[in-house]
Amino acid sequence: MVELDPILDMDFVGAGGVVVRAREFDSRILAVEPVMGDSAVLTLSLPPGMAGSLRAGQFVDVLCRVEGSYDPLLRRPYSIFRADPRTETMQLLVRPYGRGSAWLASRPAGTILDVLGPLGNTFQVNPRSRNLLMVAGGVGAAPLVMLTDHALADGRNVTYLMGAADADALLPASYLPSDVEYAVATDNGSKGHWGFVTDLVPEYLRWADQVFACGPEAMFRSLRAVASAHRLGGKPRIQVSVERTMACGLGACLGCVVETKHGMQTSCVQGPIYDMDEVVW
Ligand SMILES: Cc1cc2nc3c(=O)[nH]c(=O)nc-3n(C[C@H](O)[C@H](O)[C@H](O)COP(=O)(O)OP(=O)(O)OC[C@H]3O[C@@H](n4cnc5c(N)ncnc54)[C@H](O)[C@@H]3O)c2cc1C
Ligand code: FES
Repeated sequence: MVELDPILDMDFVGAGGVVVRAREFDSRILAVEPVMGDSAVLTLSLPPGMAGSLRAGQFVDVLCRVEGSYDPLLRRPYSIFRADPRTETMQLLVRPYGRGSAWLASRPAGTILDVLGPLGNTFQVNPRSRNLLMVAGGVGAAPLVMLTDHALADGRNVTYLMGAADADALLPASYLPSDVEYAVATDNGSKGHWGFVTDLVPEYLRWADQVFACGPEAMFRSLRAVASAHRLGGKPRIQVSVERTMACGLGACLGCVVETKHGMQTSCVQGPIYDMDEVVW
């Protein structure tokens, strides 16, 4: 196993008085697997002991600079897709979107990355919840895979719904544990339900004790519509991972604020996970 020394390891008080542990470390790309069309799953080495402490919903900020330049200047945030304490590794699912993510998705195995994290809050599973429903759109699949791994290890049942533009852009079922019920929707009907992933949600709302969602803003819009039409008394509760453009990732620049019923919050420190009903959309 590759062990690289941490560059920085310190606590400081971020926005809202939240103590943030800033850990910057070198991480080696150990493997690259093409997946979901033009995306890639990167397997990265971690400092000793870190993998077991990672929680579903957290993310890392990766420096994606072209060699010999400062561009892009700011780090790019990526949810933790999976973590394995036995191999001291984690995985990221990266979709080439702009120049930073295109650079990262095309790095070969062996590349050393500068990573800051883990950052952000985590999904909260109620100890009494037995049945968990995941609703993923595109690379929003990433944090819900880690949540699924942890939920199954705790003996819970998971149904994982995923939507994408077409069959190629779906997460292959082989990336999910076999105990998971997996149902998919595609915009062009090339696999599964022809339409939005949120069309599948009403069927599972009575079964689910909690719902967890991550995807584009449009998916959240239709999830809110489904929830208001089909939930009773605000149950089951729905947690969402919101995606705001981030600059510092540490609660300092206020570039990623989310308006909630409790005031403005920095989604990099006080999020990115929120109860859907607490966000002012
Ligand atoms: C908490 C969090 C977790 C994330 N997890 C993942 C993940 O697991 N996998 C993954 O592939 N991506 C993830 N993202 C999104 C990823 O960080 C962005 O795609 C990336 O920062 C884009 O950087 P870039 O340099 O490629 O694009 P840029 O060159 O910076 O931007 C290209 C264009 O895209 C626009 N843009 C940039 N970011 C976004 C965005 N987030 N939403 C809408 N438009 C945008 C810009 O305004 C610009 O027009 C996550 C984002 C957040 C906040
Ligand atoms: S406060 Fe800077 S990115 Fe959140």
